[in-house]
Amino acid sequence: MLICPHCGKSLQKKDRAYVCAGRHSFDLSRQGYVNLLPVSARKTENPGDNAAMIACRRRFLSGGAYSPLREKVCEILQAFRPSSVLDCGCADGYYTEELAKRFPCVFGFDISRDAVRLAAATDKKAVYFVASSFRIPVSSASVDAVTRIFAPDAPEEFLRVLRRGGAFVEVLPGERHLSELKEILYETVRPNRVPSSVREGMKLLSEEELIYAFTPDADGRRDLYGMTPYAYKTGKSGEEKLAAAPVCPVTAHFVLRTYVRI
Ligand SMILES: C[S@@+](CC[C@H](N)C(=O)[O-])C[C@H]1O[C@@H](n2cnc3c(N)ncnc32)[C@H](O)[C@@H]1O
Ligand SMILES: [Zn+2]
Repeated sequence: MLICPHCGKSLQKKDRAYVCAGRHSFDLSRQGYVNLLPVSARKTENPGDNAAMIACRRRFLSGGAYSPLREKVCEILQAFRPSSVLDCGCADGYYTEELAKRFPCVFGFDISRDAVRLAAATDKKAVYFVASSFRIPVSSASVDAVTRIFAPDAPEEFLRVLRRGGAFVEVLPGERHLSELKEILYETVRPNRVPSSVREGMKLLSEEELIYAFTPDADGRRDLYGMTPYAYKTGKSGEEKLAAAPVCPVTAHFVLRTYVRI
C-alpha cells in the first residue's frame, strides 16, 4: 500500500527500513514511524502543527472531552467493516489509535513530524508516517476507508487512494463549535462556516451533527486554546482574557459526513 515518494514504486518493510525496487530507503525512527515527506515538499523546516500545539492537543484530548466524537467515528466506520483505514492529518493519533484497536490495518499520517513522533511513541498498533495529504505516498485504489478529522482537505488525493465502494468520513467544526471560547476572545463572534458537501467521485450517504457541552478546567481550556488557530490569531492577549474568565461550559459541535467512493 505504501509507495516510494521519489519513484512511486511500492515500499516493502525490511528490518528497520522501508525500501523500494528503485533502491530508495527510508529508515524507521526510534519511535517506529517513517518519514516519507521529501525535503522538496516542505515549505518550511517543520511544517504542520508544532510541538507545543501537539502537546496541548495530547493533554486536552486525553481528558476525554472529544471521546464521544471518537466513538461516533468508529461506529460509522464499523458499518463498512474496512480492512484498511487511512487517517489523514492524524496529529498525535488520538483517533488513529482507537481505529487501530477495531480494524486490522490502520495507517495514520501527518505533515508534522512532532505529531507523528508522539503518535508512534504511544501507539504501537497503527502504522505512522510523515507525509502531506496533497501527495499521499499510498497506491491508488488501495484503501477501504479514509478519515479526515479537522484536517486539510485534499479531494483529489482522497479519491485516488480510496477503492471503489470505499468509505470517506470527514469531521468538520459545526456552526457553534467552541462558541463560548470565541466569545471570551473576540468582540464579535460569527458562526463557523460549514462548506458544501459536494464531492466529485463520491456519494454522500449521511450528514450528522454531534452537539454537546463540556466544562474544561482552567488548564484544559488553556490547552484547548493552544491547539486551535485562535492561539496564533490572538496570542498573549487571548491567553490573558482566557485566564481571567470564569470556568464555563463550552459547546462541542461537530459535523460528520459519510461518503462512498463511486
Ligand atoms: C486541527 S489538527 C487535527 C488533527 C487530528 N485529526 C485531530 O483531530 O486530533 C490538523 C492537523 O493537520 C496537519 N496538517 C496540516 N497540513 C497538512 C498536510 N498538508 N498534510 C497532512 N497533514 C497536515 C497538522 O499538522 C495537524 O496535525
Ligand atoms: Zn523509490
